[in-house]
Amino acid sequence: MNLNLVTERLLLRRWNEKDAEDLFRYASDSDVGPIAGWPVHQNIQESREVIKNVFNGPEAYAVCLKKDGKAIGAIELMFKDRTNLTEQDDECELGYWLGKPFWGNGLIPEAVEKILQYAFENCGMNKVWCGYYEGNLKSKRVQEKCGFKPHKIIKDSPVPLLNEKRTVYVNELSKEDWEARQVFKI
Ligand SMILES: CC(C)(COP(=O)(O)OP(=O)(O)OC[C@H]1O[C@@H](n2cnc3c(N)ncnc32)[C@H](O)[C@@H]1OP(=O)(O)O)[C@@H](O)C(=O)NCCC(=O)NCCS
Repeated sequence: MNLNLVTERLLLRRWNEKDAEDLFRYASDSDVGPIAGWPVHQNIQESREVIKNVFNGPEAYAVCLKKDGKAIGAIELMFKDRTNLTEQDDECELGYWLGKPFWGNGLIPEAVEKILQYAFENCGMNKVWCGYYEGNLKSKRVQEKCGFKPHKIIKDSPVPLLNEKRTVYVNELSKEDWEARQVFKI
């Protein structure tokens, strides 16, 4: 569907090849991609290719600040054909990252809350999976703050883009648990 999703500070919108320069600015930082399992971008052309060939899923969004509409990160719901965490039609995986200059302001949790609402209310999801590699405490915190619960730990999981193996912590959030959390937010 890929609608625009709007939060207090953010616009989540479809990626455009014109975002390549902004993507390169943040994806060329070695503190961003590798901890999430993908290599540092080497040049703007590579960022353009990623926009065309990777950020092209039906629910892949550029995370943009509302005030200027520029891409500063990414968030995506990955359905069964794009994740190995589920084979169910009513489940998906959530992935995200943010440019380093913007860390620590709760922006990704804000984007996650919005996309979870969209997943459960508009995409027919009953469960959202989300994982992080061992040691990624920032991502662990995002998932805790957004209500995810530990499900399993997978040792020696392949990280295909980096040609290595890591321990993955897999968390889950059911629609029921998400709905229960909404009651306390009002
Ligand atoms: C994980 C990530 C998306 C968090 O986004 P964010 O919008 O900064 O999230 P938050 O502001 O809620 O910060 C999350 C935690 O990171 C830590 N943190 C935030 N800013 C930090 C900084 N500048 N330096 C060190 N730690 C920091 C804090 O522990 C924070 O938790 P707290 O709110 O309980 O203090 C971002 O750090 C990132 O893109 N990291 C690299 C890519 C990545 O890991 N992607 C996820 C793969 S599973």
